[in-house]
Amino acid sequence: MNNRVVNALAAACVSGLLFAAFGGTAGAADPAEQVKDRQQTMKKLGGGMGAVAKFVKNEGATAEDAAKGADAVLAVAKMDPKAIFPEGTAVGVSDSAAKPELWASWGTAQERWSAMRPAAETLEAAIKGGDRAQIAQALGATSKTCGGCHEDFRVKKQ
Ligand code: HEC
Repeated sequence: MNNRVVNALAAACVSGLLFAAFGGTAGAADPAEQVKDRQQTMKKLGGGMGAVAKFVKNEGATAEDAAKGADAVLAVAKMDPKAIFPEGTAVGVSDSAAKPELWASWGTAQERWSAMRPAAETLEAAIKGGDRAQIAQALGATSKTCGGCHEDFRVKKQ
């Protein structure tokens, strides 16, 4: 191999490494953006739960609204928690309210996240069934999965 080829290979290697180092996070915005994205995602959960609650309490939401709400919760519950809680987005970054414990106890946090899915599935089934008492119960159970995680891993707003 002549020197020129070696140099070209070395250059290709270096750019490959750079790509590996930075390529993986390409598109993932800065931590402040990631916090904002997470808060938006959480708002979808809140909105979905709110729609079901409005239906249960007979406050103007239709069964269809409730079904859409449960769908929204289920869609978020299916997301990878790693994408929702990227490292380096704990309290201190922008207005993040995520405690550092969430990452320190990642296994527990993941369990909390996974618990939402079956609860939301039960909720969705209850809405399809149309029994308001059953829907209320499933809503309460889903809400507990939110509260459990917030209790441990979310800084209480003053
Ligand atoms: C795995 C843990 C976890 C689960 C499960 C979870 N949350 Fe959260 N939630 C958090 C954390 C952490 C924050 C703080 C996020 C931040 O400020 O960056 C938060 C913030 C929120 C917020 C405030 C968003 C904002 O505008 O700042 C709402 C609303 C919310 N969650 C609703 C819900 C609902 C509804 C559910 C259940 C259907 C749920 N969350 C399930 C951890 C969780």
